[in-house]
Amino acid sequence: MITLMDERDLARWLRADVRTGFTATPKRLPPKWFYDARGSALFEEITRLPEYYPTRTERAVLAEHAAEIARITEVKTLVELGSGSSEKTRLLLDALTARGTLGGFVPLDVSADALGDAVTVLGESYPGLTVTGVVGDFSRHLRHLPDGDSRMVAFLGGTIGNLTPRERSAFLAALRSTLHEGEWLLLGAGLVKDPAIEVPAYDDAAGVTAEFNRNVLRVINRELGAAFDPYAFDHVALWAPGPEWIEMRLRSRVAQRVAIPGLGMTVDFAAGEEIRTEVSAKFRRGGITAELAAAGFEVYRWWNDPQEWFGLTLARAVRP
Ligand code: AVJ
Repeated sequence: MITLMDERDLARWLRADVRTGFTATPKRLPPKWFYDARGSALFEEITRLPEYYPTRTERAVLAEHAAEIARITEVKTLVELGSGSSEKTRLLLDALTARGTLGGFVPLDVSADALGDAVTVLGESYPGLTVTGVVGDFSRHLRHLPDGDSRMVAFLGGTIGNLTPRERSAFLAALRSTLHEGEWLLLGAGLVKDPAIEVPAYDDAAGVTAEFNRNVLRVINRELGAAFDPYAFDHVALWAPGPEWIEMRLRSRVAQRVAIPGLGMTVDFAAGEEIRTEVSAKFRRGGITAELAAAGFEVYRWWNDPQEWFGLTLARAVRP
């Protein structure tokens, strides 16, 4: 394991994000703080909901094309950003080990726990594979990834959509500068579709996404000694047609003042006031191609499911 970030870094970073986000207008919190143990379990539950199409759709596209991806790229190392449980990655690892080129797998995640479990389990499933977990963040630590000459970076699940356009272009540029010409990016992204499909994917009937959304308040309570009542906030998911993203928000049901002792501050909410907790942008093929080109990647192949709900892009680092 390579540790680029420890508990203290994380704690410091959470404090900075909460202070900045709660003093901004409108209030906001970055989505990365959803994922403590409970939040990660809730996310796993979300991936199995009937309304949540991304995971199963991406898995189907990957399953259909993994062998082709292995044949085209013949990479020696697979890097996965925000790997979590690395479940879909098995499709790629199977195909690449069958092809006989793969020697190493490098999952990167902020959660040392999730990473440790994945490293253990995958090490057992793929005995010939060198698995090197990297505890780090994909928007900060890309330049510390292990070097190589034949790598593919997988960024799956539509997580790129959780970045704002500025964060996205900075991320893609940073990724390009860590890669050598000819190395690969495999990018999974949700596609623009009917909001009548999209909104329920982020506002499911069973209320799992609502609990996932409220979980960020539980994290702040635990880490910063705050006194949020998660149920004093309603879950909101809406489609924003301009930026073409889903926004999740937490809407204060009442006027309230909440103490955050870990920051030595209180936060006031008006009745109905919202905190933006996540954007999840959806993409068009042309937009992805253009953003990748601007960062120094050339799209090599594109695949999607028959309903065009999810796209998988294989791109190559080219001379900028
Ligand atoms: C898989 C992290 C990209 O934005 O769809 C699921 C997270 N948020 N339901 C997404 C999420 C609400 C998810 N990512």
